This record gives sequence, C-alpha cells and structure tokens, in this order.
Amino acid sequence: MIEKWQARSGSPFLRSLVAANDKQAYQDFIWGRELIDLALDYPADFTDAEDFVAILRKLQPRLYSISSSPLAHPGEVHLTVGEVTYRTFGRERGGVCSTFLARLAAGDTTGVYLHENPAFRLPENPSTPLIMVGPGTGIAPFRAFLEDRQATGAKGRNWLFFGNPHAATDFLYQEQLEQFFKDGLLERLDTAFSRDQAKKIYVQDRMKEQGAELWKWLEEGAAFYVCGDASRMAKDVDVALHDAIQTHGGKTAEEAAAYVAQMKKDKRYQRDVY
Ligand SMILES: Cc1cc2nc3c(=O)[nH]c(=O)nc-3n(C[C@H](O)[C@H](O)[C@H](O)COP(=O)(O)OP(=O)(O)OC[C@H]3O[C@@H](n4cnc5c(N)ncnc54)[C@H](O)[C@@H]3O)c2cc1C
Ligand SMILES: NC(=O)c1ccc[n+]([C@@H]2O[C@H](COP(=O)([O-])OP(=O)(O)OC[C@H]3O[C@@H](n4cnc5c(N)ncnc54)[C@H](OP(=O)(O)O)[C@@H]3O)[C@@H](O)[C@H]2O)c1
Repeated sequence: MIEKWQARSGSPFLRSLVAANDKQAYQDFIWGRELIDLALDYPADFTDAEDFVAILRKLQPRLYSISSSPLAHPGEVHLTVGEVTYRTFGRERGGVCSTFLARLAAGDTTGVYLHENPAFRLPENPSTPLIMVGPGTGIAPFRAFLEDRQATGAKGRNWLFFGNPHAATDFLYQEQLEQFFKDGLLERLDTAFSRDQAKKIYVQDRMKEQGAELWKWLEEGAAFYVCGDASRMAKDVDVALHDAIQTHGGKTAEEAAAYVAQMKKDKRYQRDVY
C-alpha cells in the first residue's frame, strides 16, 4: 500500500523507503501507524474515491486460540482476548479486531472460521506429564488443555507457568486455576506477576527458580508447551529451557541444544507464539 501511496504523494521520504525495499524499515515505519497517519503526514492525490479505494487491502482475519474444551463446554467456544490499545503519533488507538470483539454484546453475532494447528496438540499419550508456559493471553490453549485433561481423566501430571502485570487485576481464570490446583489436576501452578514488586519477575524467572524440578519432569518425559508473545517472551523462555537442561542436566551448551532439538523432533516441545 505504501508503494501505491508514494506514487501518488511525491513524498521524498516515502520514495526512499520504497526504493530501499528493506523489510525491517517497512515494519518499523508501519508499527503504530494507520492509514490516517499516511493521509495526514504524506498527502496524496487521488483522481476519485474509487482510485483511493483501489489501493486498500482487504481486511485480514485475526487468529485467536480456543480457550475451552468442548468436553467441558459442549456447544461453546471460548476465546481469551487482550484488547489492544496504545497511543502513537498523538492519538489513542485501538486494534481493529480485539476492540471489535470487546464491543460485542450478548446476542450479537460475527463471522468466524476455524484454523487448525496440527503442530500444537495435547500429547497423544494421556499419561505424558505436561509443562505449560502461557503468560498473558498465552493462557488460552492451556485452559482448554486442562479442561480437556480433567474431562477425560488423563493421568499425566500438569504444571502451569502463568504471568501478567498484576495479581489483583490480571490473574486470568484465577478461580478455575486455583480449583484445578486444589483438585490436584494442576500439580504445580507458578505465577509471575511482573509489576507487583519493584523488580520485574517473568515466567522464565520462575522456571529458573524451579530448574532442578523442571529437569526432573523433562527426564520423566514431560512435554513442554509455550504460548503467547513471540517477540520477547518465547525467546527468553527458550533460553531458560536450555539453561535448565544445561545446569541441572549437567550438559554443555551444545548437548542442551541437541536435547531440545530431540524434544522438538519427538513433538515434546511445541509453541504457538504470535
Ligand atoms: C496463532 C495466533 C494465536 C493468537 N491467539 C490470540 C489469543 O488467544 N488472544 C489474543 O488476544 N490474541 C491472540 N493472537 C493475536 C491476535 O490475532 C491479534 O493479532 C491481536 O488481537 C491484535 O489484533 P487487532 O486487530 O486488535 O489489532 P490490529 O488492528 O491488527 O493492530 C495491531 C497493530 O497495532 C500496532 N500496535 C499494537 N500495539 C502497539 C503499541 N503498543 N505501540 C505501537 N503500535 C502498536 C502495530 O502496528 C500492530 O501491528 C493470536 C495470534 C496468532 C497468530
Ligand atoms: N504480535 C502481537 O500481536 C502481540 C503479541 C503479544 C502481545 N501483544 C499485545 O500485548 C498486549 C498484552 O498481550 P498479552 O495479554 O498476551 O500479554 P503480554 O504483553 O505478553 O504480557 C504478559 C506478561 O508477560 C510479561 N512479559 C513481558 N516481557 C516478557 C518477557 N521477555 N518474558 C516473559 N514475560 C514477559 C509482561 O510483563 P510486563 O508487561 O510487566 O513487562 C506481562 O506480565 C496486548 O495488547 C496484545 O495484543 C501483541
């Protein structure tokens, strides 16, 4: 769209951006910008409304993880949506789809479709221990997994790492998760409320504290699942996983990397990050 816009705007900046054709530069430019910013900052000439509409792309669908098991909620599909709001270039902004969903009222309808992800599934063997790392909206599939394991009476042990800014306001599914813990479905529930103390605490810090136990679970065949933010969290959790294997498994960095590679091959390390 920027290419088409710059042809009509004559902006030297946009011309150089397009000429550079640098993916990162495009991403940096687009981040936090909407069409209105282009229109205001880089005015362009269009012959008529149709000429303008012709450069617009079709609205893209957004994906949301299903956060319920059909066994626990027959006929229902639950989503766990974080409303995207931020301020850029002097304006309050809202993400298109998340704020739309937040505005829906009971009885409203909207179009949805199902996108299957065969690479992110509960282990086939119900006795496989499960370690789940799902801060923020990353909790979504793990609530579904836990509901499913409860409904089917799966014998595998379950360990959840959850994190969000504040315990008082952001402990998603608190009652249900604490009940799972009381019932023994969740053998371990480790939380990291990042902003409840001066120094930030993240899920990977909890993983580090529990490194020896984590290694024990892995050696007992546990599958390791991660869901949520791709840009920072998933990378840091991956580092923490390698560290735990190295430190508590007595391995070199290369051996830890090989161990993780084997986990991936065995589908014991699955991620759904965005
Ligand atoms: C496989 C998958 C599963 C997902 N599961 C979930 C889920 O379970 N729950 C969930 O809530 N989301 C989930 N998402 C994310 C979801 O699909 C949307 O990306 C998210 O809701 C934002 O969509 P939106 O239309 O509200 O925002 P958009 O209108 O798409 O706006 C996003 C854009 O806003 C800008 N922006 C956002 N934040 C800032 C900021 N702080 N500063 C400056 N600019 C900013 C950026 O340009 C960004 O590209 C998932 C994504 C994938 C790929
Ligand atoms: N690509 C995307 O579309 C995308 C991906 C993820 C999140 N988001 C947006 O971010 C907002 C909230 O998303 P969310 O609810 O999923 O939560 P989130 O932003 O992923 O935050 C959840 C928790 O993770 C913490 N965190 C921050 N950096 C971390 C790191 N490196 N490692 C581990 N934990 C880390 C956060 O702490 P602090 O915030 O206190 O640092 C917070 O406590 C939404 O607006 C969402 O749309 C967008």
